[in-house]
Amino acid sequence: MNAPCDEIYNLASPASPVDFARIPDFILKTNSIGQLNLLNWAKTHNARILFASTSEVYGDPLVHPQPESYLGNVDCTGLRGC
Ligand SMILES: NC(=O)c1ccc[n+]([C@@H]2O[C@H](COP(=O)([O-])OP(=O)(O)OC[C@H]3O[C@@H](n4cnc5c(N)ncnc54)[C@H](O)[C@@H]3O)[C@@H](O)[C@H]2O)c1
Repeated sequence: MNAPCDEIYNLASPASPVDFARIPDFILKTNSIGQLNLLNWAKTHNARILFASTSEVYGDPLVHPQPESYLGNVDCTGLRGC
């Protein structure tokens, strides 16, 4: 990606729970290394980023509904951890 831009909207993710078991390594890398690449690019070009999160960040929540201040109950080594 070389064209300058002001804003990046990253909605890319294998987001299906079926994929969590099938391609966890790919999902982990897409959402970590891929996002890091975007952050570095944005910093270089002074662009802003919107990164779509997922309810998976809450894991198996102990609070319903989850406010933004809730840090979640995630099993990082579980099936949905990626
Ligand atoms: N749909 C929902 O209810 C919901 C709720 C909360 C969060 N989200 C988040 O919003 C985002 C988009 O969700 P969606 O429902 O549109 O999913 P979606 O599966 O319809 O779209 C995701 C897209 O990302 C693409 N993709 C996957 N890996 C990629 C890669 N390495 N590089 C480029 N593209 C890649 C897929 O081909 C697909 O087109 C995801 O991050 C998801 O976790 C969705």
